[in-house]
Amino acid sequence: MMIDLRSDTVTKPSQAMRTAMAQAEVGDDVFGEDPTVLTLEREVAALLGREAGLYLPSGTMSNQVAIKTHTQPGDEVVCDYGAHIMNYESGGPAFHSQVQLHPLSGNLGVFTAQQVEAAIRPLSVHMPPTRLISIENTHNRAGGVIFPLDEIHAIAEMARAHDVRMHLDGARLMNAVVATGIPAHEWAAPFDSISICLSKGLGAPVGSVLCGDSAYIQRAHRYRKLFGGGMRQVGIIAAGGLFAIRRHVEDLETDHRRARRLAETLARLPGVQIDPEAVHTNIVVFAVEEDRGTGLEVQHRLEGAGLLCLAFGQQKIRLVTHRDLADDDIKHAIQIFQKVLS
Ligand SMILES: Cc1ncc(COP(=O)(O)O)c(C=O)c1O
Repeated sequence: MMIDLRSDTVTKPSQAMRTAMAQAEVGDDVFGEDPTVLTLEREVAALLGREAGLYLPSGTMSNQVAIKTHTQPGDEVVCDYGAHIMNYESGGPAFHSQVQLHPLSGNLGVFTAQQVEAAIRPLSVHMPPTRLISIENTHNRAGGVIFPLDEIHAIAEMARAHDVRMHLDGARLMNAVVATGIPAHEWAAPFDSISICLSKGLGAPVGSVLCGDSAYIQRAHRYRKLFGGGMRQVGIIAAGGLFAIRRHVEDLETDHRRARRLAETLARLPGVQIDPEAVHTNIVVFAVEEDRGTGLEVQHRLEGAGLLCLAFGQQKIRLVTHRDLADDDIKHAIQIFQKVLS
């Protein structure tokens, strides 16, 4: 059996979740008649302290619909250079919204209000209007890093002063909630739109929810339709999301503990660079020195020993812990790292 540390998206629905899905009440959601979807949207919106929510097939579509709803072609969107919207959404902001991204060099995904202030364009016929700031929390590429709430507030204040909107790519926001004890609505408060994923560490098979005020979500609803994301008896999968958001949040703590344990093991190995203190949640990104081979070569060696992971750039590797792992998998993973990397 391979130990799969490639992503928390590999989690499969449990038997109990499948039962909830099989028993879900459904209706035509394009007519707004699927009770399970409506319940999911209402519950996630309430969790985030917002008026309304919109169920979408993926985190990517949720971010892209969010950007489209906030912007006009030719606008500029400020984000971190390692952001998912910049690196892993197939050029979606340019393709769907015809906006330009303005990447900032964050420190492990975290940029400052000063950097934002310097990035916001003055009114000028020569420059793209700065319309939106997008923050990723937790930050995937940086290794599950939590964006500090006080910095988010400082950025939001700057944004408001310049009439710029704020979007949260909170694909793994619930990881930040569990790791800090700060409730979801407090993390969400400084933002105009918030996207959370149900199909990552929370373990649902499909789906994200975009939240905001009612007028914003009404406009986003039109773009979901325009992007081809209107789905019919989709309560059958939304039920998995509802099960996950009701029952799986606290379990993320286990993922965090296991990620930290892996990081501490890796930190003791020669030729490996990682600061376990920088592992805030369920993602571990470590670097291997060149004499160990490239990240891709190490990935292949680990795979040969029974462990799946992802090379992340030339010398880096990403591991993600998730709810489908057992304690024995972590013990076994540690033995594999010790064997392959020592
Ligand atoms: C931070 C972040 N945002 C958005 C997404 C996109 O989610 P999906 O794979 O559901 O499109 C991901 C996926 O890994 C992610 O890590």
